[in-house]
Amino acid sequence: MKRKSNILITGVAGFIGFNLSLSLLKENKQIIGIDNINDYYSVKLKKDRLTELKKFKNFKFFKTDLVNSNSLNKIFKKYKIDKIIHLAAQAGVRYSIENPKKYLNSNFVGFFNILELSRINKIKKIIYASSSSVYGNTKKFPLNEYSSLNPNNFYGLSKKTNEEIASIYAKYYKLKLIGIRFFTVYGEWGRPDMSIFKIIDASFKNKIFYLNNYGKHHRDFTYIGDVVKMLKKLKFRKKTTNEIYNISSNKPIKLGVIFNILSKYMKLPKIKKRQLQKADVVKTHGNNLKIIKNTGFKNFTNFEMGLLNTLKWYKAYNKIN
Ligand SMILES: NC(=O)c1ccc[n+]([C@@H]2O[C@H](COP(=O)([O-])OP(=O)(O)OC[C@H]3O[C@@H](n4cnc5c(N)ncnc54)[C@H](O)[C@@H]3O)[C@@H](O)[C@H]2O)c1
Repeated sequence: MKRKSNILITGVAGFIGFNLSLSLLKENKQIIGIDNINDYYSVKLKKDRLTELKKFKNFKFFKTDLVNSNSLNKIFKKYKIDKIIHLAAQAGVRYSIENPKKYLNSNFVGFFNILELSRINKIKKIIYASSSSVYGNTKKFPLNEYSSLNPNNFYGLSKKTNEEIASIYAKYYKLKLIGIRFFTVYGEWGRPDMSIFKIIDASFKNKIFYLNNYGKHHRDFTYIGDVVKMLKKLKFRKKTTNEIYNISSNKPIKLGVIFNILSKYMKLPKIKKRQLQKADVVKTHGNNLKIIKNTGFKNFTNFEMGLLNTLKWYKAYNKIN
């Protein structure tokens, strides 16, 4: 009987890792998950995501840190891993100003460990998370995969460096690497440090929502359901060495517009406008033709529908009627 292939997913207790794993587990795929369950945001939310994943017998979980290459290597040796989807990282741009070392450890050393152990253990296919933050502040939109890179903060620099390390590993060790530049992903089980979650949370907890840059930011919000579908359809082409893809919806939304939509479905929180934050970029807008070509995916979820799904999930998760 043919052995079932093993997919290693790092950052499995995180927003994207969880949603992707859940979808793959439902298709009976064999998933090995890694996460250190750090406290960058609610540990409870991460543990609740894991509880959902642990309901599947085809899921194995290891609480380990990317920095600990010995414990990672034990996992790599124990299982025949066919593909890695590396999503674990220290995320967040503002946090990188106060905590650069967390990024150095998880995003530089951690990323290196994953590639180095892949080389040693002859794991060829790796998808890894980059970010729209590699582009930095620019005026030419939409950004495509060949636009110049000019990160505005240590987080963006860590992702740009990941792409550069990946291209060297692809060249010298024949690894097949695909880097994904995610653009502001939102949706069910989303991250409490991101704007849409914060707005909804502020409304139900009667907190103030601080609207940066007086609401003039534009973000290319990309719905998690679409992201999962694209990641699952993504193909390693024969000639793949180090390929880069934007995952974006190609529809930048002005932050202020979110309030207009949400006001139809919930009471808005108290809003305090404030100036641009240092690590933020003013606008993101990614061209997504390359990922559409690779995956054939083009039915992007309408933003209002995605927001409504997020709100419904938030209420169900927090048991609010
Ligand atoms: N969500 C987005 O909009 C977005 C945008 C651009 C890039 N990304 C990238 O996509 C990936 C997934 O993002 P996410 O939104 O799911 O973030 P997330 O923070 O929800 O998930 C990351 C997970 O990795 C784990 N982790 C962090 N450092 C670790 C370490 N040293 N060892 C083991 N586990 C560790 C965390 O505990 C967390 O559960 C990240 O690499 C992120 O930088 C996300």
